Order: sequence, then C-alpha cells, then structure tokens
Amino acid sequence: MSDLARPAGPKIIAVANQKGGVGKTTTTINLGAALAELGCRVLVVDLDPQGNASTGLGIEPEDRDLTTYELLLDDTELHAVVQKTSVERLMIIPATVDLSSADIELIANEKRSYLLHDALRQAAMDDFALDFILIDCPPSLNLLTVNAMVASHSVLVPLQSEFFALEGLSQLMLTIREVRQTANPHLRIEGVVMTMYDARNNLSQQVESDARDNLGELVFNAVIPRNVRVSEAPSYALPVLQYDGSSKGAAAYRELARELLHKNAKMAA
Ligand SMILES: Nc1ncnc2c1ncn2[C@@H]1O[C@H](COP(=O)(O)OP(=O)(O)OP(=O)(O)O)[C@@H](O)[C@H]1O
Ligand SMILES: [Mg+2]
Repeated sequence: MSDLARPAGPKIIAVANQKGGVGKTTTTINLGAALAELGCRVLVVDLDPQGNASTGLGIEPEDRDLTTYELLLDDTELHAVVQKTSVERLMIIPATVDLSSADIELIANEKRSYLLHDALRQAAMDDFALDFILIDCPPSLNLLTVNAMVASHSVLVPLQSEFFALEGLSQLMLTIREVRQTANPHLRIEGVVMTMYDARNNLSQQVESDARDNLGELVFNAVIPRNVRVSEAPSYALPVLQYDGSSKGAAAYRELARELLHKNAKMAA
C-alpha cells in the first residue's frame, strides 16, 4: 500500500454493516483472534453500546470503568482504556451502554466525526506496537459508525448469506462514499465476507454467487459457515479459535485472517 493510503502504525479496519445480526461482532472477535494467532498484535475497539465484543472477549461489566465512551468524550488516554484479553496479543477497549448517549452528545461537538480518529492517533499508540485495529460498529449508520469510517483505513463488511443481504449494501456504500468525499478520502473497502453460510441451502449459494457477480474481487474467498461452535463461544467468553480450535468456524476465520494478511502484503508491495 502506498504511504499515502497507509501511514505508519497499525492498519485500522472498521467492521460495519447497518443491518443487525449479520456477524459483525463475531467477525471482529474471531478475525482478531486469528490474526493474533498468526503473530499479529491486535486491538479490538468496541464501538457498539451493546458491548457484545467486550462480553465475547471476557470483559466483565464491573471491569468496564473506562471504555470507548471515556476515550471519545473525556479525552482519556489509551493506556487507561486498553485491556488485555485471555488471548495473547489480542487487546480490547470495551464498551457499555453509556456509548448510546455518545451519539447524541457528539452532535454538539464541532469535531464530532474525528473523535475516534484523533483518539487512535495519540502518541501513546506506538507503545502498543499494534499491527491491526478492528472496530466493531453498531448496527446503524450513525455518528459512531461515521467516527469508525473516518478513523479507519478500510471497511470490512460481513454479509449474511440470506435473502435481501445485498439490498442494504447500497446504503452502506453511499455512506462510505460520503465519508470519502469529506473526512477520509483514502477510505477503502477491505472486502466483503460471507457469514453464516449454509452449503446445503440453495439460498446461501444464490446469495454468494450474486455477491461475487456484483462485487467481484471484493468478496473474500474465505466463507464463514454457520457453525454452532461459533455461536456458543461468546457464552464462554472466548473466541471460537480458543473454544474449539478444530471447528469449521475456527478454520474459516483462520483462512480469512491469512487471506487478509496476504491481500495487505500484496498492497504494500
Ligand atoms: N458463523 C456463525 N455460525 C453460527 N452462528 C453465528 C455465526 N456468526 C454469528 N452467529 C450468531 O449470530 C448472531 C449475530 O451475530 P453477531 O452478534 O456477530 O452479529 P452483529 O452483526 O454483530 O449483530 P449486531 O448488529 O446486533 O451488532 C449471534 O448470536 C452469533 O452468535
Ligand atoms: Mg455486534
């Protein structure tokens, strides 16, 4: 990737789709864990008031004193908000429901779209020696998601293998275009990843072939299958790679991580 597109420091990726329940959080957690397993240092930023990424990575509610909310609205420094997880090299800034009011509080703030961008570019970021930052966005194209897109180098879009999956994409692409035209001209699309894929279901196959026809190379070769181990893992506060490393879900997220690293290495060349 050119220096222009990617300044020194971690690659920042917003995991976004305004549609609810399509696998954003699952992808953030498990792609993060898979990249960490490959030796990368990864920070997950929980930017969803639901706090699902925080729960899924084992951060108890009582351990969420300092969260993304404080990072964005109280200028809290990075060292105070970044927490370790049970996975080596995988860190998180947790979130609580407090973040739901941030969307409204931010409206009065002149720098409202740049708060996450600026927070992630504190000098202290170097201390963490990160390779990747993955931002788990809420199911909405609100100011939080815009903050994520302004802060990021790229957007990774989980697409659930179901009917109407592609319909919501045009709205998402419009928002990406708007952010490009205003605050972040270098914002790219990292790729689209098919989630909850059921190979026995004709509909899954149809949605996948539609996605590949329409979006071409943007669609990752790695496809995440619907896999019960993936859905069980968060209740054990673990990524599926730790919960059941030999499951099909774990294998798929490992493949996605390798493909993402490969894509990025090619772009850097
Ligand atoms: N590959 C999979 N196999 C089985 N279940 C899955 C898979 N991916 C996600 N799920 C389940 O689907 C539900 C929605 O997933 P997830 O929370 O990741 O979506 P989301 O897009 O983050 O949702 P929200 O929009 O509410 O933030 C969860 O219960 C999750 O466990
Ligand atoms: Mg989520």
